[in-house]
Amino acid sequence: MTQSLTIARPDDWHLHLRDGAMLNAVLPETARHFARAIIMPNLVPPVVTGDQAAAYRDRILAALPAEMTFEPLMTLYLTEKTDPADVAAAFSSGLIKAVKLYPAGATTNSASGVGDFDKVRGVLETMAEIGLPLCVHGEVTDADVDIFDREAVFIDRVLDPIRKATPGLRVVMEHITTANGVDYVKSNAADLAATITTHHLIINRNHLLVGGIKPHYYCLPVAKRESHRLALRAAATSGDARFFIGTDSAPHTDPNKESACGCAGCFTATNTMSLLAHIFDEDGALDKLEGFASRNGPAFYGLPVNSDTITLTKHDEPATFPAKIDTTDGPVTVFDPGYDIHWTVDE
Ligand code: NCD
Ligand code: ZN
Repeated sequence: MTQSLTIARPDDWHLHLRDGAMLNAVLPETARHFARAIIMPNLVPPVVTGDQAAAYRDRILAALPAEMTFEPLMTLYLTEKTDPADVAAAFSSGLIKAVKLYPAGATTNSASGVGDFDKVRGVLETMAEIGLPLCVHGEVTDADVDIFDREAVFIDRVLDPIRKATPGLRVVMEHITTANGVDYVKSNAADLAATITTHHLIINRNHLLVGGIKPHYYCLPVAKRESHRLALRAAATSGDARFFIGTDSAPHTDPNKESACGCAGCFTATNTMSLLAHIFDEDGALDKLEGFASRNGPAFYGLPVNSDTITLTKHDEPATFPAKIDTTDGPVTVFDPGYDIHWTVDE
């Protein structure tokens, strides 16, 4: 028996599109189902200024197939040299919707990120005044902090002090992976929200490491133990408007993933909506999927909910998804949950 669910068209509140050949290959995978996405600025070199964001936006729109519509929501990459006036101008012109904070060295292409948080105090104060959200990669980079503890330590040592020192600053904790992240969001008021990825709702660290290392399950922040995955699942499916989808779909070619020093990132753009339908169905929360995928994000960012819809259908037979997306740089493996998925998005 088939079952159908129609929801407002979703948006992706955390997406890596890259540039050049990779951008051309992965953009349709997102634009097929999502109306808008918050575009991560961690290119090489990073998207730091308003002019750079405008040029990147033009390259994204030029890469969009003529028959598709998609609105890139641009962000700036915060550095210790970022000019508050440039940030304010890019926001007031409507070009950018957020600024992204990467602690220096925390993840892919984060070398230009912030080491000394006092140096970005002026930018953060301007952002609080004008209501521009800060998207945060919440991991400390200290060599003496275990990689599985880096999110929890970041909340205590960095995020909470920044928020206390900058009243009114609106913050999105990106791709939370721990119960600590869930609890921190829940214990705070309306100026704090969090994105949750598709893959962190599905995998824990055993999936990554037991029975052989699985490079396509390696991403940052790294998947944590099962109790944390369950806390993320409960938050996502709860209907709490402070949690929304940010896929963190992050393409790397297979040679760069399947390597002695493999890149971090899971590529989920292609099958995210089917995976989310499966997850919410499994947890008896299909009525909460529209909030998580299509309503809570726009509400936080002060944007309208998309006026068109998508319909998801559950079939008796398992759905098939491409194993890889071909790019002229090499193949990109599509995230495989490791079990059958029966939901598809009607085309
Ligand atoms: C992202 C990337 O590849 O750009 N990788 C990842 O594992 N998520 C960077 C990031 O969001 O941390
Ligand atoms: Zn990311």
